[in-house]
Amino acid sequence: MSVGKRFKIACIGAGNVGATVAQFCVEMELGDVVLTDVVEGLPQGKALDLTQAGAIRGYGSVVTGTNDYADIADCDVCVVTAGLPRRPGMTRLDLLEKNGKIIAEISQQIVQYAPNSVVVIVTNPLDVMTFMAFRKLGFPPERVVGMAGCLDSARLRAFVAIGLGVNVKTVDAMVLGSHGDDMVPLPQYTTVSGIPITQLLREQHIEAIVERTRKGGGEIVALLKTGSAYYAPGASAARMIQSIVRDEKQLLPCSAYVTGQYDLRDLYVGVPVRLGKDGVEEILELPLTNAQLAGLHKSAEEVRAGIAGLRELRLL
Ligand SMILES: NC(=O)c1ccc[n+]([C@@H]2O[C@H](COP(=O)([O-])OP(=O)(O)OC[C@H]3O[C@@H](n4cnc5c(N)ncnc54)[C@H](O)[C@@H]3O)[C@@H](O)[C@H]2O)c1
Repeated sequence: MSVGKRFKIACIGAGNVGATVAQFCVEMELGDVVLTDVVEGLPQGKALDLTQAGAIRGYGSVVTGTNDYADIADCDVCVVTAGLPRRPGMTRLDLLEKNGKIIAEISQQIVQYAPNSVVVIVTNPLDVMTFMAFRKLGFPPERVVGMAGCLDSARLRAFVAIGLGVNVKTVDAMVLGSHGDDMVPLPQYTTVSGIPITQLLREQHIEAIVERTRKGGGEIVALLKTGSAYYAPGASAARMIQSIVRDEKQLLPCSAYVTGQYDLRDLYVGVPVRLGKDGVEEILELPLTNAQLAGLHKSAEEVRAGIAGLRELRLL
C-alpha cells in the first residue's frame, strides 16, 4: 500500500455497524468508501444518503453502494461487518455456522478482488471469525486483524471518565483477551493524564467499572431491545482504519495472530499491537499480573473452543 494516495475502503455488510464505519471514515476523510451487502438497494441507499450528507458536513470522499464484489477491486482496506448477531434461541454453534459461512464466502471475494488489502474483521464471534478469515484468505497474519479491544477499551475509558467526572479525552485504557465475558481489562495500564486509575479510584469502584465494561455490549442490547451497539463499534473500526491508511502506528488492542507471545500460539486473541500501513507490525508483550495472564489464557481457551466448533461443522 502506498502512502499519500487516495485510499479505497470496502465496508462489507451495510447494516448498522458497516454503515457507521462508512460514516466515520468519510467524516474523517480516510478515503473513498464502497458499501457492499447482499440486500439489494440497501448499500446503494445508504451510500446516496451519506453522499448527500457530505454536502452539509463538507467531506469530499466518494461513497458508493453495491451488491457486486467486483466493485471492491483494489481496495486498500476491507472491513467485514456482515453477519448476524446471536438471537434468542440460537446456540453458539448456530451462530458459528451462519457467520462462518458468510466469512468464508466474503473471504473468497476479497482474495479475488482485493488481494493486497488489509482486512479488519468485526463480525462476531470476533476472534473465531478473524481466525476463520485468516485461514480462508491465506493472507499473511499481519494483514488480517480483528476489532474488539478498541471497543472494549473505549467502553472502559467512558466508564472511568463518568466515574471520575473527567474528560474522556484524558483517559487511556487497555483491554486484552477475547471479545466477550472473558475480556481482560488492565487497570494498571488505564490512566487519566498518565496517572493509573489504581491511584485514583478505590478497588471496589474499579471492579464495578471493569464489570460494567465486561457487560458493556449486553447493557446496550437490553436497552435497545432490537439490535446491538453500532456507534462505538463503528468508531473503533474507523480508528483502526485511520491507523492503517495514515500509517499512524497507533498502539491499539486488536485481535491478532499470536505466535508465542504471552505463551499463546496459532490463534487470534486481543493483544496490544502497533497498527500501520501493512497491518499488525508488532505484538507488544506487557508485564501482566498472574491473574491477568490466567485471564488471557482463559480467553484463548474460549477461542480454541470456537475454532474446534468450526472444525466440527467442517467449515475449517
Ligand atoms: N467486534 C465487535 O466488537 C462488534 C461490535 C458490534 C457488532 N459486532 C458484530 O458485527 C456484525 C454486524 O452487526 P450489525 O449490528 O451491523 O448487524 P446488521 O444486521 O445491522 O448488519 C449486518 C449486515 O450484514 C449483511 N450480510 C449478511 N450476509 C452477508 C454477506 N454474505 N455479504 C454481505 N453482507 C451480508 C446483512 O444483509 C446486514 O445488512 C454482527 O456479527 C455483530 O455481532 C461486532
